[in-house]
Amino acid sequence: MSEQQSIHGIWTKRWTFVLAATGSAVGLGNIWKFPYMAGENGGGAFVLIYLCFIAAIGIPVMLAEILLGRRGRASPINSMHKLADEAQATPFWGGIGWLGAVAGMLILSFYSVVAGWAVSYVYLMASGTFTGQEAEVISGEFGNLVSDPAKLVDWHTVFIAMTVVVVANGIHKGLEMAVQLLMPLLFIMLLLLLGYSMTQEAFTDSLRFLFKVDFGKLTEEAVLSALGHSFFTLSLGMGAIMAYGAYMSRQQSLAATVVTVGVLDTLVAIVAGMVIFTIVFANGLEPGAGPSLMFQTLPIAFSQMPGGVVLGTMFFVLVVAAAWSSAISLAEPAVAWAVETLGMNRGVAALIVGVVAWVLGVACALSLNIWSDVKIFDETIFDFLDKLTTNIMLPLGGLLICIFVAWVMDRAIVRKEVDIDHPTIYKIWFFLVRFVSPVGVAVVMLNKLME
Ligand code: TRP
Repeated sequence: MSEQQSIHGIWTKRWTFVLAATGSAVGLGNIWKFPYMAGENGGGAFVLIYLCFIAAIGIPVMLAEILLGRRGRASPINSMHKLADEAQATPFWGGIGWLGAVAGMLILSFYSVVAGWAVSYVYLMASGTFTGQEAEVISGEFGNLVSDPAKLVDWHTVFIAMTVVVVANGIHKGLEMAVQLLMPLLFIMLLLLLGYSMTQEAFTDSLRFLFKVDFGKLTEEAVLSALGHSFFTLSLGMGAIMAYGAYMSRQQSLAATVVTVGVLDTLVAIVAGMVIFTIVFANGLEPGAGPSLMFQTLPIAFSQMPGGVVLGTMFFVLVVAAAWSSAISLAEPAVAWAVETLGMNRGVAALIVGVVAWVLGVACALSLNIWSDVKIFDETIFDFLDKLTTNIMLPLGGLLICIFVAWVMDRAIVRKEVDIDHPTIYKIWFFLVRFVSPVGVAVVMLNKLME
């Protein structure tokens, strides 16, 4: 196969890929999901396992996934077909692409509901609802939102519409602009919150909770959640990063990019955790509160700070932006495929993907209130979609990606494509992708299955 160009374009500047991949990776997974999962799973031990998964599985798999995209230069489905063909392997490898396109839409549905909460908090912060209120009243506000189906659906609709608009505009106008300004601002804002937390006495309790390792608290469920989350937070296993890799130029070093994205993503999650647990312990809240955690804690901090209304509003705007730049990557694999293979107009394709995710998202939103009794495998629709994608589909996608890159593809092509100059580093990476990641994922998944 000769050098290929993507029909969707190539990122214009050298580091736009880093920004776009960081935009995809950094999102609700870091600020909303990581802290509440750490809280539910007892802190330190979960955090340590999660960090190990990021380093030993997440980062190597990210390299493998980008490599597939950059070699295939097409939507994940078509890239996988081409590469399977090139390796003279069965066309069933295209299944990685299909699994991913479906997973992306499923994730987008519940992701958009949560992003909708963040949009609604922009409004709540800006209108001064929390000013001068007691901590209890502030954290109670979340219940009002979640028990109101109309509100949930409205904000969810707003967020899906935002996502469709950017995806419809394609990678240059849409994606690049959205990430360039907002990502750096989010980092600054988080550092500001970190500064605030450090002035609080409870900061040390927060550190103790996050970093004091007690393996006694670790369940099998927690290990699987940590694995699933390491894929979720780095946007791995469903082709999002593969789709972006297809727009990445040849000149760029893959390894440096991947490490940068991995480190930035982890920093954001850890800082968010340190801030949130400071507020939890300072106000006698429950670390294991679950998905409501971020929404019940951060507004308390803002209500106590000078300039809190402005800062709090800005913060939630940035959370929405981070969620937005992630959501577009969830839709991209399916949209790129429809454009390439069905010859569909990008706008129409984005709209269809948006409608599917919207309908499923409405079901998720209602499962938080009027449909809370509807159970699939004992879980609400919301939890079911979250667990199905995060704990099963993403690790499975990751596992298949590893097998394809390290066992099916031509070794010389892989060597050339990863472009790691240092032979030892290359060997370590290849070993991780060939043995450590697939075995790790398989063991964790099977363990949970045979519980
Ligand atoms: N990584 C994003 C977050 O942490 C969510 C996300 C975007 C994602 N694209 C993805 C998750 C692809 C899994 C797969 O918020």
